[in-house]
Amino acid sequence: MCGIVGAVSTRNIVPILIEGLKRLEYRGYDSCGVAVHQNGELKRARSTSRVAELETNAETDHIVAGTGIAHTRWATHGAPAVHNAHPHFSNGPNAAEASMGKLALVHNGIIENHDELRRELQAKGYNFTSQTDTEVIAHLVHSHYNGDLLEAVQHALPRLRGAYAIAVFCRDEPQRVVGARQGSPLILGVGEITEGLGKGEGEHFLASDAMALAGVTSQIVYLEEGDVVDLQLGKYWISSAQGSATQPGGVPRYSSVDRPVRTVHAHSGAAELGPYRHYMQKEIFEQPRALADTLQGVRGITPELFGDGAFSVFRQVDRVLILACGTSSYSGMTAKYWLESIAGIPTSVEIASEYRYRTSVPDPRTLVVTISQSGETADTLAALKHARSMGMEQTLSICNVATSAMVRECKLAYITRAGVEIGVASTKAFTTQLAGLYLLTLALAQVRGKLSAEREEKEMHALRHLPLALQAVLALEPQVIAWADDFARMDNALFLGRGLHYPIALEGALKLKEISYIHAEAYPAGELKHGPLALVTDKMPVVTVAPNDELLEKLKSNMQEVRARGGQLYVFADDNTHIENEPGVHVIRMPEHYGTLSPILHVVPLQLLAYHTACARGTDVDKPRNLAKSVTVE
Ligand code: M6R
Repeated sequence: MCGIVGAVSTRNIVPILIEGLKRLEYRGYDSCGVAVHQNGELKRARSTSRVAELETNAETDHIVAGTGIAHTRWATHGAPAVHNAHPHFSNGPNAAEASMGKLALVHNGIIENHDELRRELQAKGYNFTSQTDTEVIAHLVHSHYNGDLLEAVQHALPRLRGAYAIAVFCRDEPQRVVGARQGSPLILGVGEITEGLGKGEGEHFLASDAMALAGVTSQIVYLEEGDVVDLQLGKYWISSAQGSATQPGGVPRYSSVDRPVRTVHAHSGAAELGPYRHYMQKEIFEQPRALADTLQGVRGITPELFGDGAFSVFRQVDRVLILACGTSSYSGMTAKYWLESIAGIPTSVEIASEYRYRTSVPDPRTLVVTISQSGETADTLAALKHARSMGMEQTLSICNVATSAMVRECKLAYITRAGVEIGVASTKAFTTQLAGLYLLTLALAQVRGKLSAEREEKEMHALRHLPLALQAVLALEPQVIAWADDFARMDNALFLGRGLHYPIALEGALKLKEISYIHAEAYPAGELKHGPLALVTDKMPVVTVAPNDELLEKLKSNMQEVRARGGQLYVFADDNTHIENEPGVHVIRMPEHYGTLSPILHVVPLQLLAYHTACARGTDVDKPRNLAKSVTVE
C-alpha cells in the first residue's frame, strides 16, 4: 500500500528516495512521485506507471537535491491519476499556479473529515487540483505557516480526524522535513556519518518502513502514535502532544520525547526471481525452506518459544481470541480447531475490521493473538488496541516481521521466518503462521497438562518432517497445471472442505479470486444442501479438499450430492480415501496423510491451482488489480 520516503542531506538524495520507493513497490501502488527542494524552488515528478519510469522522468527533468520526499500511492480518494499522485503542493490561497508549490506533502492513511476541511479551505481561497484527502492536509499546513514548518504542522494536526503518516517540507526552509504519525507507521532513520564512503554529513531520513532505508542506515527510531519529528541537517527533534494541555488557540502543548534508536538490519526486499516466472510461484516453492527456518531452533515444546514470561501468561489465561484479516484469519480459523481439540482451550476467531467496532464482552483471562504477515495491517492493529483498551492485556503476535508495530505492541511473539513475501497473494506466510500456531497449541496444551512427553516427541517428529512432506506435495505441480486450463475458462468455482480443512477451502477460494478474478466461494461441505447446491451445474467446478480423516465418509456423501447435479469435482484426495478418477470426478492424489498438520500440506496444491489458473488467464499475478500487499488503511 502507500509508502513514504524522505530525507535531508548534503548529498543528492534523489537516488535514495527512488531506491526506497522501489523497496516498497511490492506492497502495491498505482502511482508514485517525488518532490525536492532545488535552487530555491520545489520540483516534482509524478507517474501512474512504475517507479522505474518515475526515475527516468526525474533524470530527464534533472531533479537533483539534498532535501526531498517521495511516495507510492494506492488510491483511496480520487482515481489513480497523475494529478492525484503525491507529493501534493500548496502554494497558498488564490495561487495562480499551484504546481509551483511553496510546500510539498506526502501522506499515508485516510483523513475522515477531509470534506469539511476542503470546504473551509476553499472558502479561504485555496485552490484544489486533486480529489485526494492529502491535498487538504497540504493546504491546511500551509494555512498555519508563519515561517516555521514544525509549528505549522503542530497547529494543523489537531484538525485531522482519521489515520495519517505525513512528511512535509517547505520552500522557505531548505534543509528541513517534518513528519508526523497517528494510526499509520512512520520511522526516522538516523544518518550514519561515514565520510569518505559517500554518505552525506548529518543526514536524516523518514520512511513508512525501515525496509525502504536498507543499506542507507540501520539506525532506526520507531515513532509512536502522536509523534511529530523535525528533521534538519545534523539534528532531529521528536515531540508529542502532552495530555490535554493546550497553548493559546487550542493547540496542544508539545514537548520533547525520547525514543530509542535501534539497530535494525532491515532486509532490502529486493529478492531475485531466479528461475521462477513470478514471486508468487517462487514463494510457493520456498515453503519447505520457510517452514524449516520457522521451526529451526525449536528443540522441544516450551512456552518460552513465545518470549520471556510466556509461562506465566499462559497460566493466567483460559480463553484465546484470535484477531486477523484475510489469509491470516484463515490460519487463525485452522488454529481454532487445534486449540480446542488439542489444548482444550475455548477459542474464538474474529475478523479484525469487525471486532474493532463490535460491542463485545471482554474477559481479562483471554490470550489475545494477532496474526499478520506484515505486522502493520491497520484493522488488526486497531483491533488489538481495542482489545487492550477493554482490559485484555495478555497479548501475543504471530508475525513475519520482527520489527513491526504488531510485534512491538504485543507482550509475546512468535516470529515466522518466511522471509520477505512479495506476491500480494500470501502463501509462505500462511503455512509458516500455521506452524507457529501449532507450536502455540502444543505449548498451551503443555501448560494445561494436556501434552504428554510421548505426544510431544511424536509432534516434534511430525513438525521436523514437514519440509520434506511439502517437497513431495510441490512435485504435484504438473498435475495441477493440467487442471488450470479448465479453470481458466470458468466464471465461478466452489471450494469444499470439512473440519480442519474448511479454512483451507476458504483460503483456496480467496487465492483463486484474488489473482485470477474468478468468482470463488468456499463452504463447509455439510452446508451445501442448505443453499449453495442450487448453484451446482456442469459449469461449476467444485474443488474438494479430501484428507483421510474421521469426516471422510461424510465428505464423500457431500461429493455425491454434487455429482448427482452434474457438478464437476476436482478432488485433492489423500491415500486410502478410495476416491478415484471417473467421469465428472478428477483426482489428484496427495502423497501422504499428515494427521492434524494436514492443512499445511493441503493448502499447497490450492495455491498452485490459483497460480496456474491466473497465469492461463494472463493476469498480473504478483500485483492483482485493486489490491495492495500491506493494508495500512482501514
Ligand atoms: O499482513 P497481514 O497478514 O495482516 O495481511 C492480512 C491480509 O491483508 C492478507 O492476508 C490478504 O488477505 C492477502 N492478500 C491474501 O492473499
